[in-house]
Amino acid sequence: MKFDDKVVVVTGAGAGIGQQLVLQLLERGAHVAAVDLREEGLEETVSLAEGPGRMTVHQLDVTDREGVEALAEEVVERHGAVDGLINNAGIIQPFVKIDKLDFEDIDRVINVNLHGPINMTKVFLPLLKERPQGHICNVSSMGAFLPVPGQAIYGAAKAGVSLMTEALYAELMDSSVSVSLVMPGAIATDIASNSGVEAVMPEGDQASSSMGADEAAECVLEGIEKGRLHIVVGSDARLMRLANRIAPKKSIRLIQRQMKDLIGGE
Ligand SMILES: NC(=O)c1ccc[n+]([C@@H]2O[C@H](COP(=O)([O-])OP(=O)(O)OC[C@H]3O[C@@H](n4cnc5c(N)ncnc54)[C@H](O)[C@@H]3O)[C@@H](O)[C@H]2O)c1
Repeated sequence: MKFDDKVVVVTGAGAGIGQQLVLQLLERGAHVAAVDLREEGLEETVSLAEGPGRMTVHQLDVTDREGVEALAEEVVERHGAVDGLINNAGIIQPFVKIDKLDFEDIDRVINVNLHGPINMTKVFLPLLKERPQGHICNVSSMGAFLPVPGQAIYGAAKAGVSLMTEALYAELMDSSVSVSLVMPGAIATDIASNSGVEAVMPEGDQASSSMGADEAAECVLEGIEKGRLHIVVGSDARLMRLANRIAPKKSIRLIQRQMKDLIGGE
């Protein structure tokens, strides 16, 4: 899909990759409905875009089903139609093993990362089908194919997103709606603090060696424009995807060693 003059809904638009997606979609001539839980994040996105221009902002929790239905009506009212949906909003879990994780955190991480994209997809798909060309892009994670100790529930939710997205691709194969699945590696964003999680990443990880959110967003939009089903973002994600297929035990061990100090041994 080319974005010029298309209406695209982006969730998690108030920070990180989502914020960059909005800015770059506007540069590519799209009209954007920017959605985020945090009002201050949306304000920042508007200010970085130097005013709303072709963007509308919508404060919403993607786990709120009635809110998502109301959002669809609002977007159609403001923009006339919807051509694209990028389900990007997500949070990580506290860096602890499953037995140390509260049910409250488990439910929250599954709700935001899995039910969020399900709610958005179910409500927006009928609108996308009405268009000559529609697109759904779901942002999963390297954590969906490579288990990260201390992020088991996050990974499980993202694996759910990956499979749902591939099933959607199959279901929509004979329709006008195309589908893409994004699997980023480590991207330098404030996802830990935005998720309310305290995290000191292992040395050499995150900020220092990670790709920037702007570059990640560019990869995503290029992947969509080229009609890719799988958009693997970053050399770490590409390498670990291959390693996990060829030598699953070794690749899991490698990550386990890196995470050991962060989550403890027991
Ligand atoms: N940063 C990474 O290393 C990395 C790696 C792999 C995958 N991802 C995925 O990329 C996506 C974007 O992550 P990011 O790093 O840009 O994070 P971020 O924290 O910078 O941005 C995420 C945005 O989503 C919003 N959000 C959170 N919960 C929400 C909800 N319930 N409803 C609406 N908005 C909500 C937050 O307020 C925030 O503005 C996420 O799905 C994340 O899981 C990130």
